[in-house]
Amino acid sequence: MSAFKLPSRPLIVTIDGPAGAGKTTVSKLLAKKLGYRYLDTGALYRGVAVAAKQAGISAEDDPALEALCGRIKLDLIADDDGLRLLLNGADITRQIRTPEISMMASAVSARPVVRAFLLATQRDLAAPKAVVAEGRDMGTVVFPQAEAKFFLDADPAIRAQRRYEELNPKADAGPSLTTVESEMRQRDRKDATRAVAPLQPAADAIRIDSSRLSLAEVVDEMLRHIATIA
Ligand code: DC
Repeated sequence: MSAFKLPSRPLIVTIDGPAGAGKTTVSKLLAKKLGYRYLDTGALYRGVAVAAKQAGISAEDDPALEALCGRIKLDLIADDDGLRLLLNGADITRQIRTPEISMMASAVSARPVVRAFLLATQRDLAAPKAVVAEGRDMGTVVFPQAEAKFFLDADPAIRAQRRYEELNPKADAGPSLTTVESEMRQRDRKDATRAVAPLQPAADAIRIDSSRLSLAEVVDEMLRHIATIA
């Protein structure tokens, strides 16, 4: 990878897009190259989903969700293995990646009370800037003033294959490719059609299709763009 000019001031970089487009790998790599922090906002929605599940609250019960948001605190802590998610001080990192919590996270993320709660959390976490924020509405709602906005997409079949490989590192241990693809399409449809903050590119976002690019090439393209920012 060639050398790129690093920004002379701390920026907010946003990376939005559907599941399996490569956002997480790209965001982590880009944050490392820039010496920035990585903010995984999907993990926060997953954290609310775990809290709701623990409390036996349904994703349709807005008053209960609102009360729940009033009594939880989510923290993202960077360590050598990546980010750890704390729910009221308890480490729930391992609990948030199951297919059940993925669906629940998508469901709670459609509720305005949850989005309003996490809006403040996300802005607090990004306050010092020098951050790469990954999610669905980073460039549109949470950080509309971000200096560099990217929207990363890929063919649905390629996204499903990537997600499948992520979930099945030891092959055959998890759900089938067909299940992963159909759950992913279902979740995409919900995320893109919900009334609040649906998944869509910001008008000023740079769109990158990662179908035929390696994720390192995607990062290079982003760094090239960031180098043009004064
Ligand atoms: O990126 P992820 O798969 O960990 O996100 C989990 C869910 O949270 C996803 O279905 C959509 C939702 N989400 C969101 O609505 N807004 C964000 N900024 C991040 C995630």
